[in-house]
Amino acid sequence: MVCYMLKMKNNCIVLLVCLLMTACGEKHPVTLSNLRCELITDPIGIDCVTPRLSWEINSDHRGLYQTAYRILVASSLGQLNADQGDLWDSGQIQSGNSIFVPYSGKELKSRAECYWKVQIDTNHGKSGWSQPAKWMMGVMDLGEWQAKWIGLDKSFAWDDPQAKCTRLSARYFRKEFEISQQPVKAVLHISGLGLYKLRINGEMIGDQELSPTPTEYARVVKYNTFDVTKNFQKGHNAVAVVLGNGRFFHMRHRNVEIEYPKMILQLELEYADGHHQTIMSDHTWKVTADGPIRANNEYDGEEYDARKEMPGWDKSGFDDRHWLGAEYTRAPGGKLEAQNNQNIKVMDVVRPVAITEKKPGTYVLDMGQNMVGWLRMKVRGNKGDRIQLRFAENLDENGNVCLDNLRGGLATDQYTLKGEATETWEPSFTSHGFQYVEITGYPGTPSIHDFEGRVVYDEMETTGYFETSNKTINQIYSNAYWSIRGNYRGMPTDCPQRTERMGWLGDRTVGAHGESFVFNNNNLYAKWLDDIRIAQREDGSLPDIAPNYWNKYTDNMTWPGTFVTVTNMLYEQFGDLEQVVKNYDAMKKWLGYMRTNYMVDGIMPRDRYGDWCMPPELPTLNDPKDSTRITEAAVIGTTFYYQMLDLLEKFAGLIDKPDDVKLFAEQKIQVKESFNKKFLNTQNGQYSNNSVTANLLPLCFGMVPKELENLVFGNIVNRTMNDFNGHLSTGVIGCQWLMRGFSDYGRPDIAYQVVTAKDYPGWGYMVEKGATTIWEHWNGDAMERWIDSKNHVMLLGDLIVWFYEYLAGIQNTPGNCGFKQITMKPSIIDGLDEVKASYHSVHGLIKSAWMKTGQSFQWEITVPCNTTATVYIPATCKENITENGQTIPNRHIKFVGMDGDYTVCEIGSGIYSFLSVR
Ligand code: BGC
Repeated sequence: MVCYMLKMKNNCIVLLVCLLMTACGEKHPVTLSNLRCELITDPIGIDCVTPRLSWEINSDHRGLYQTAYRILVASSLGQLNADQGDLWDSGQIQSGNSIFVPYSGKELKSRAECYWKVQIDTNHGKSGWSQPAKWMMGVMDLGEWQAKWIGLDKSFAWDDPQAKCTRLSARYFRKEFEISQQPVKAVLHISGLGLYKLRINGEMIGDQELSPTPTEYARVVKYNTFDVTKNFQKGHNAVAVVLGNGRFFHMRHRNVEIEYPKMILQLELEYADGHHQTIMSDHTWKVTADGPIRANNEYDGEEYDARKEMPGWDKSGFDDRHWLGAEYTRAPGGKLEAQNNQNIKVMDVVRPVAITEKKPGTYVLDMGQNMVGWLRMKVRGNKGDRIQLRFAENLDENGNVCLDNLRGGLATDQYTLKGEATETWEPSFTSHGFQYVEITGYPGTPSIHDFEGRVVYDEMETTGYFETSNKTINQIYSNAYWSIRGNYRGMPTDCPQRTERMGWLGDRTVGAHGESFVFNNNNLYAKWLDDIRIAQREDGSLPDIAPNYWNKYTDNMTWPGTFVTVTNMLYEQFGDLEQVVKNYDAMKKWLGYMRTNYMVDGIMPRDRYGDWCMPPELPTLNDPKDSTRITEAAVIGTTFYYQMLDLLEKFAGLIDKPDDVKLFAEQKIQVKESFNKKFLNTQNGQYSNNSVTANLLPLCFGMVPKELENLVFGNIVNRTMNDFNGHLSTGVIGCQWLMRGFSDYGRPDIAYQVVTAKDYPGWGYMVEKGATTIWEHWNGDAMERWIDSKNHVMLLGDLIVWFYEYLAGIQNTPGNCGFKQITMKPSIIDGLDEVKASYHSVHGLIKSAWMKTGQSFQWEITVPCNTTATVYIPATCKENITENGQTIPNRHIKFVGMDGDYTVCEIGSGIYSFLSVR
């Protein structure tokens, strides 16, 4: 018996399934390694007409690939088990494709439960059926929403929404009703703006936090769906919702009108006798704002008074006579859509490392790690005792918390005790970016054991592992890991602590690619592309921020360009062509808009941010003064424009638009010519003022005449080594290509020197200064304190890409997608002796772990089923290589040829252990 592991995807939903091989035709049965069955995203509430199904095949068989598949989708488990695909039987499809197979069965109705399984043929025989998996549809027709938006369009005596928008209390809604029998199915759809918590009969539903996902509410509002069949019983029942302010209420800062929190909820109950009942939000609901959450705000914190708790309010039988009646409110305006990106959850826990009493009654708690989330606290004291927690990333010279860099955000939680035994509390509607917490008002002496850091971000699996023999690199990777996850919040944010927390596009241009190795971020970034696309103006202009909370359209090439690069990332890394199809017209329209309005003689002068956050010559400066390191706007604008044309040309090819391919190819020629004419000094190979970024961008985008490439690269090397003493001199833009640029032109050693430098500027400098996340500025420790966020990802540039694709050597073969064909080519660098990495791709786990000792090179590789890999083994000839003690080539390892110091072979799936002499 062979076991296979299948990972199935429907649109944004991923399920893992176990497939039992029964008749693989092997003489000797093969056993399965690493068998797992995993649900990556809760597949409930899908509202796309054609969900896409994917699966992952896992076997320790070498060279195994799929030749055909058959999918069955049934409306009940019984039917599926009887092999009856009443919704869809794909029949035998001769295909090697195992990702994003579109559902092509009967039309799917709202709340339809779809049970499915798959069977495949491989070159090693047929599999058995997989274990069943399931998804459920959401609301397929907007007309089915009978529920109304309800809320309270006012504030109360204890609120002060005019002040800082912090003093608005949470709103508590409840509805009781009776049912005559136990339902056979109960499905609930809810959206609560800004944020909601849902309870039924006294129990919390789901473990999502800060939901639903943030959107531009006037355009799109996301709802969540829950299967709550088990939560109801015959007799009296109660549904209860708490609404927090979230981004929705806060937006009044920018928009003139205040919009108070509001909700919509629809519960569909189905009974055994076939009849249906719908419970929905309407004027019969009761509401109060006089509960324990006295104030809540994302930036300022939460105030909770436990004396105001209302025991039993979320169960039936509670006396709500004094509560108000819910009011019908204006709908937020946006189309109600199912939320397909993951919800935020508590994903990790941090235990504090120290607590210090700074003055009597004032303590500073140190988490030992800059983190995003909040504190859970245990306390015992008297009724009315009030504890205040102030969250900060920095300490001042005296070791007190310093909130200067929060730009006005209060980041303060307050808890007032009810005075009963031990009380445990954590907030509901706020989050903080912090390492330190100032605690005042705590009754008695707090200890580190009274607190726990709750790490919150979008529920996505960590798909990457990366470790080397270099400690600085390992700490940089850890810092990146914490910053990346700390900035996932239903959108990729710039920072998690100050009064900003926005989806700035330019922070993710290439970073999103690196992040996709570390986290399964496909759904999040697909949702973000929707945010960007719906924010596109009629004329084609794209915003710098999405969701569009700040209405910021500055018409530059670098920030909006992320719309194009992230589309490309989702296609290349995950094989998600749908994103290209969906966004193509909008991308083309934007480029056309920029061309028509701003292009002058083939030059695109539009740039807004320059090489943002480049390192000033002295760490104490806020901005660089040295003009030789500042890159001209038109250089950045035009090179980016060229890169966009290049990607659009590729997309047009992918979705079969030959006229557009031609159009973009022609435009590229024109832009390249104009650019080189204007900025390239053909004598010395210098672009513009010879800044590293000015030379790097045209080189990496393929704009430099072939014969001058080495000269241009030489200038990058000269400036880096001579003017900057082996350090980076680039900002957000240059860093997007720096590591790869050095490596691709034969100097990975310089990239290594730049990344491991421990003095200013560089990622290693941050490590030396004790950073546990990535800073916004290279000199975040020495510049004016109010400026720097200690948790930004934009300076990572292509560093994480370089870690995985170059140091570990795990790369999608160019021209390919989803790691169906893999190129494995580790960079060999003096001083770096070991790299251990893995990446769980859409096709399965890819591993590369190598170690070099003297001239010998040992390399453990895993290639997933249904993929192939071209491996570059550091060895001057094939005779210097053995695999598991066997000479190569052999039946599993095909010799392809030599490439410099590498011997190139082709292999199929499996685990390999190479030993070579370099
Ligand atoms: C943000 C950045 C952003 C930039 C653009 C900053 O305030 O934190 O991440 O990209 O503004 O100007």
